[in-house]
Parts: sequence; structure tokens; C-alpha cells
Amino acid sequence: MAKKKPLRSSEWFGGKDKMGFVHRSWLRNQGYPDDYFKGKPVIGICNTWSDLTPCNGHLRDFAEVVKRGILEAGGVPFEFPVMSLGETLMRPTTMLFRNLASMDTEESIRANPLDGIVLLTGCDKTTPSTIMGACSVDLPTIVVPGGPMLSGRFRGVKIGSGSMNWMIKEKRKKDGYTEEDFTEAEVCVARSIGHCNTMGTASTMATMAEALGLTLPGFSSIPAADSRKKLFAQLSGRRIVEMVKEDLKLSKILTRNAFENAIITNAAVGGSTNLIIHLTAIAGRIGVDLTLDDFDILGSKVPLLVNLKPSGDHLMEDFFYAGGLPVVLKELKPMLRNNAVTVNGKRLVENYADAVCYDHNVIFTLEKPLQKEAGIAVLKGNLCENGAVIKPSAASKHLMTHKGKAVVFESMEDYHERIDDPDLDIDKNSVIVLKGVGPKGYPGMPEVGNVDLPEKLILQGVTDMVRISDGRMSGTAAGTVVLHVSPESTIGGTLALVQNGDLIELNVEKRTLNLLITDEELSLRKAAWRAPKPLADRGYVKLYIDHVQQADKGADLDFLTGGSGSKVERDLH
Ligand code: FES
Ligand code: MG
Repeated sequence: MAKKKPLRSSEWFGGKDKMGFVHRSWLRNQGYPDDYFKGKPVIGICNTWSDLTPCNGHLRDFAEVVKRGILEAGGVPFEFPVMSLGETLMRPTTMLFRNLASMDTEESIRANPLDGIVLLTGCDKTTPSTIMGACSVDLPTIVVPGGPMLSGRFRGVKIGSGSMNWMIKEKRKKDGYTEEDFTEAEVCVARSIGHCNTMGTASTMATMAEALGLTLPGFSSIPAADSRKKLFAQLSGRRIVEMVKEDLKLSKILTRNAFENAIITNAAVGGSTNLIIHLTAIAGRIGVDLTLDDFDILGSKVPLLVNLKPSGDHLMEDFFYAGGLPVVLKELKPMLRNNAVTVNGKRLVENYADAVCYDHNVIFTLEKPLQKEAGIAVLKGNLCENGAVIKPSAASKHLMTHKGKAVVFESMEDYHERIDDPDLDIDKNSVIVLKGVGPKGYPGMPEVGNVDLPEKLILQGVTDMVRISDGRMSGTAAGTVVLHVSPESTIGGTLALVQNGDLIELNVEKRTLNLLITDEELSLRKAAWRAPKPLADRGYVKLYIDHVQQADKGADLDFLTGGSGSKVERDLH
């Protein structure tokens, strides 16, 4: 019989020497009995709870529930905080801090006497940042997704997270909404605990975690306020103890097949474009080779199976009642990779055999999908040599092939200053070009790609225009928006060289995005281009600007790619 692998934590708690005494003794100030740590898997509950991250505000309670499960299964739970990233408050953008939060997670896990990890996640970046960090250590790890808010209603009409904020300008101008109307709407949108309730980035990330095999099956679609959410949290606590005994590490789950399943699933649920960046960064940490082209090759032919905002009509609560992700994964079985293992030890495709759809207005079938091809399209051309992305399911059909004159904004500030100028030379066929919002440029690549249209065009009834930038777009937003242009303008990508009035041609079907000027003209402009002054000369932001990679590489810091395992060679003394 093979010898059982000693627990990692026993290197701390099993010591008969001075350090063993120190490791145990101080913890015992909490009143733990002397046999509390003996030979039991020690589970770290990595909590992204914060009062400043409202989407994760309930995770303190959830940690207690996870602890129940861990204790039941004979493990020892220790909860620890990591940097929490709240989309709605942090400036200039949470994306600037995703890599920092991942470093916090990685080092907190590795430095401590932990055998297995539970990641409590919710708001957009809290899922990828913690998974990235955990990957670089590679212990057995399970994800507890915090869950979406319940559906909101405003004056009898269902509204989702994001539905209102993207319409404020429109509502004020066209429907005469007042301050009071908006104040009333505020709490209607945020009706319960949980994260955004559309298939925005948070729901996309939770779906991704489940499709990667990192959550118990069915967990990701349950609303935060539903008692089944806590039930699954407790079961996750039980399960992680078993995973430690089985040595079911992240690298055994996160194979190339798991990533392919996540891409296919994201297309079928109409998930956020942000998935591309986060999934690429996660793959980089665990050593799986994933390129931008993989998203198009694997995802773009996948049909859209769910009718959820922002691509469709319904919200996450409706999705859950319709059967949730299990129904989608069961339906996708013929397309999914067969041999991807999940946290429960079974293969992804095995886990959903019994799923039942209760509402075909919300979840569609492969035979009769909501839309034939839904995944993300990757564009190439002289305007984006390393690629750019567009989400066709959220775009307008009539703009998918479009030629128009560029109206250029050199920065976000420039855009705010001039977009509503009545004299701005712009019409519905113009192409809005926004520079300086890439990873290094903003810095942090904010979700600004779906900039509002000019007021005068909104009043004429224009609802969509082609917009191009090196930034990202919120997963709750929609429009014919070309994002993640790489290389970004701040490092001299062609985007930097676009001038007002230049013709730009977008052809989503052919996957091209081109600036229609001659090569000679392009070379002249390139030679004349001067790099802008970096926006920080100290601190984390400087580190970020110096080391962040471009969007097509997942915007991780170059020195964070890969992992260092869980071994720490030296003790405290
Ligand atoms: Fe937190 Fe949308 S703001 S998930
Ligand atoms: Mg978001």
C-alpha cells in the first residue's frame, strides 16, 4: 500500500521542537484543545468579505456555514481575509488591483499552515483574483460563489443590475426622470444580498468557476439569498476536507480541457467579455497555454442557450428557477470535453445528467437555440495586430459590417469634455474611438468601452454606434463595442495613430478591424508618435504599469505568470 502523504500543516503543527510549540501555543489563545490540530486537514477559508464590497457583504455569514461543513468532515477551519475588490466604489478601477489581490491570496495561502482552500467570492474581480493566486500555490481548492441578488422591480417592471445605470442619460433626457425617480430606483435595483443579477461579469465568473470544475455542481446559479446557497456552502466545507485526503489539487482539475469547457459554456450563457482576460490570466498561472484565438475557435460557433440580460430578457433568479447552469451543461454535453474532472471527483459531463429544464423561455436547447452563434469574436487587422474582441450577441446586427469616419477621443477626460458638445461633428455612422484606457494607459483597463452616445444622437433615436477602445466593458453592458484592442494606444499601438475623419472598417463576419489609411501614412504617423509620460512614479501603480502585460495575455503582471508551488523552505527561526 502506498504511504499516505503527510499533511502540509503537520510541518507546522506536528513539530516537537520550539517552533511546533510556538505554532500551536499562540493559536490556543482561542481556546482550542491540544488535540485540535492533530493529524486533521487544516482548511483556509479565504474570505473576500468587505463592507466596501457590497456584493460580498454576506460572506462573513457564509464563512461560518463553510466552517460547519469543515468541522463535520473532521477538518480544522481557519478563516482569513484577503484584499476585496468592489466594483462600485474603487477608483480608478478594480482591474488595476486584480493582480495585487491575487498576490495577497497567493502569499497568504503559501505562508500559512494550510492543506486545502475554500475561496469565498462574489463581485467581479474577487473570483479571478483569488483563483489566480490559488493556482500559483496549487493546493486542493474549492470555490464558494456568493451568488446573485434577487431580481429587482421598479414600478412593476423587472430591472436588473446595470439596466438602470446604462440608461440614466436616456431616462433623464427622453422620459424626464427626476432625482426622486432615480433615488427610488436605487434600492429596487439592489434588492437583496448578492452580486449583480444579470449574466454580467460576476455571474459570468461564477459560471466560469463551475464550468472549470471548481464548484460543487449547480452551485453557481443559486441566488445569494436562497437558503440552498448556504446548504451548498456547508457541503463545500465538507468536500474540501475530502479533497485534501484525495490530494485533488487545482492542477488536476484545471487542465486544458477544463479551460475549453469554460470557453464553450461562456458562449452558451452569453457571458461577459471580461472572461477572456480573466480566464487567460488563470491559465497562465496554472501553466495551460491559452490564446485569444482559442476563444474564437472554440466559442464563436456555440449557440446562445440562455435568455439573460444583457444579451436577453431575464435575470439570474429566473435562470435558477429554470434549472440554472446544470441544464445548460447537460445540453452542452455533446460539445464539452469528456475527461475534465471537477471538485467532487467526477467528470463535468457526469455531474449534470439529471438536470431538468423548467422554463424554456429562459433556457433554450441546442436544437432550438436563442441565437445560432453566440461566443466572442476575435478581430485582427492593422488597428489591432494582437487582437481585439467583440461580443456579437450584445451587438447590433446592422453594425456588424460597418465603415465609418473616426471621431477620436484622446482620453476619457477628452471624451467627457466633448461628447455632448452640440458642434461635435458626429452622426450615427461615425465610429467612436477612445484611446488611453488600456492596461498601462488608464492605468488598469477600466470598463469604459461602452461609452454613452452623444446626447444629440440619443434624442434623434440612435441607440447604438460602433465604439472602439483599448478598454473593457462591464458584463452588464451591451452595444457594438470593440474592446481590448492590443497593443494599446499608450504603448504606440495603431489605435494611438487614428485621427479624426480616418475611415475605419469593421467586419465581424470576416473578423477584421482596419484603419483605412496607406502603409506609408501609417509609417509616417508611427515615426512621429511620442510615448506619454507614465502616470505613476511610485508604489503599486508603478509596479503595475512597469509589468502589466497586454489584454491578449490576460493583463497579468509578467513576473506573476506561473506558480511557485506550496513549499516554503524556511521556518520563522
Ligand atoms: Fe459587484 Fe456587479 S458590482 S458584481
Ligand atoms: Mg461589472
